[in-house]
Amino acid sequence: MQQRNMEEKDLAACARLFARVFSADPWNEPWDDELALRRLVHFHDSSGFVGVVAQRQEVVGFALGNLEPFCTGTLFYLREMCINTAQQSKGVGTQLYHALQRELESRHVRAVYLATYRGIPAASFYEGRGFHRSDNMAFYAKRLATSPLATD
Ligand SMILES: CC(C)(COP(=O)(O)OP(=O)(O)OC[C@H]1O[C@@H](n2cnc3c(N)ncnc32)[C@H](O)[C@@H]1OP(=O)(O)O)[C@@H](O)C(=O)NCCC(=O)NCCS
Repeated sequence: MQQRNMEEKDLAACARLFARVFSADPWNEPWDDELALRRLVHFHDSSGFVGVVAQRQEVVGFALGNLEPFCTGTLFYLREMCINTAQQSKGVGTQLYHALQRELESRHVRAVYLATYRGIPAASFYEGRGFHRSDNMAFYAKRLATSPLATD
């Protein structure tokens, strides 16, 4: 298994993987390849993009997000991470996360943050990798009549 930085040429394969993983349990979201590619391209083309992929013959997983300036230094907002469903729970996500963290440390990033649901398997994955759920911060969302939110 190889971990390396994500390149633009990886986006299509990552989008196909993303659409498959997040269409399945426990997410069951209505992704197709085109919608997934649009989302990943958005992050890729945004300021401060950092992404890593895990690869055998093909891409098995990826993690990506964007660096953000903050008053205490640079933060990284981890926006998406997924491992091929058939390859989950075999340590690939842990290796991939460590590759991402090494990359962020080399860029002197102060902290990584992310939003996800409580109680899903991914939450215990992040907690096992040293993340803690904030008692002080909350994630707010408001549904607007014209724009259904995928967050509730
Ligand atoms: C969450 C995810 C990235 C973890 O990667 P992974 O390769 O399955 O995880 P690993 O095998 O490296 O680590 C397993 C650890 O995470 C936990 N875990 C997280 N998700 C798990 C899952 N779906 N199945 C089994 N264990 C899971 C286990 O408790 C285990 O903890 P431990 O090492 O302390 O015993 C991956 O399962 C995944 O892509 N899930 C679907 C998409 C998703 O939820 N992404 C995150 C959205 S915020």
